[in-house]
Amino acid sequence: MAQEQKTGRASGGGKVVLITGASSGIGRTCCEYLAGLGMTVYGASRSLSGGDAGNFKTLRMDVTDDASVRDGIKNIQELQGRIDVVMNCAGYGIAGAVEETSPEEAMAQFDTNFFGVHRVCRAVLPIMRQQKGGVIINVSSLAGLLAVPFQSFYSASKFAMEGMTEALRMEVRPFGIRVALIEPGDFKSEFPANRVNTMDSVKSNIYRELLERCVGVMREEEKNGKAPLPVARLVERIINDPSPRLRYTIGPFEERLGPKLKSVLPYRVYEYLFMKHYKLV
Ligand SMILES: NC(=O)c1ccc[n+]([C@@H]2O[C@H](COP(=O)([O-])OP(=O)(O)OC[C@H]3O[C@@H](n4cnc5c(N)ncnc54)[C@H](OP(=O)(O)O)[C@@H]3O)[C@@H](O)[C@H]2O)c1
Repeated sequence: MAQEQKTGRASGGGKVVLITGASSGIGRTCCEYLAGLGMTVYGASRSLSGGDAGNFKTLRMDVTDDASVRDGIKNIQELQGRIDVVMNCAGYGIAGAVEETSPEEAMAQFDTNFFGVHRVCRAVLPIMRQQKGGVIINVSSLAGLLAVPFQSFYSASKFAMEGMTEALRMEVRPFGIRVALIEPGDFKSEFPANRVNTMDSVKSNIYRELLERCVGVMREEEKNGKAPLPVARLVERIINDPSPRLRYTIGPFEERLGPKLKSVLPYRVYEYLFMKHYKLV
């Protein structure tokens, strides 16, 4: 028992957890890890189809679809009588210059990465308020703190999600609901393969060379990303913390240094270093 408490294995048991974006990458690793601790875990995504995936349960859910989100969460509530933890992990990236991103492409990015989180929060909050407690963990990115060139709408969607989460946390604390943000650097997942290139950026040559240089650096960093187990351990820590922080950056040290440099250096110096890193100067 003493050993169990030391590893945190006893404290998470019995909790009912929903994780969106659970078919691969960070979401899937978190599902497997938390289920391994004895939690009842539901992993949701568009391609999951119900039933079990190894040690966790799955649910088909598209976070861009109100009814799909509502029905999925109602289903868990009916089966389990409660939802203790929600981790909003569903998301994807989009690459292209601002000028070469259509409003439709930008809105689709926000529909998943920002409004998807909003939909899930809206559906689960009445349940958490009624049970007088719960934990919401929103997966942002270091790109939610540092806007990345040619990832403008991905960064913007995460910046927006950070703003909503910051406010949400204060709104729901009086109801005993804890809210935190995880801001990962690069971890191995299907994220690079699922990234969408904007249509105009594929057709045009205007930014091609700059975009290729910048995305090339990004791809190299992504290739070196480690398996997302540390994120799952962090999620466990947040779930078991009665008073979690708002923000947790996680990932390679050099990547986590970025937000610190942005906050202490004169902005022009930071910007120059950032552009140099991405081979834009
Ligand atoms: N890996 C990294 O280095 C990294 C770094 C910073 C932040 N992040 C963030 O971490 C989160 C997870 O990404 P990942 O790296 O694990 O990438 P991933 O392997 O591509 O996983 C993304 C997940 O989101 C799901 N998804 C996408 N659109 C969805 C929708 N409309 N409704 C429901 N599920 C949807 C996908 O499943 P389906 O296709 O089956 O729906 C998949 O399960 C994302 O929010 C991402 O922005 C990742």
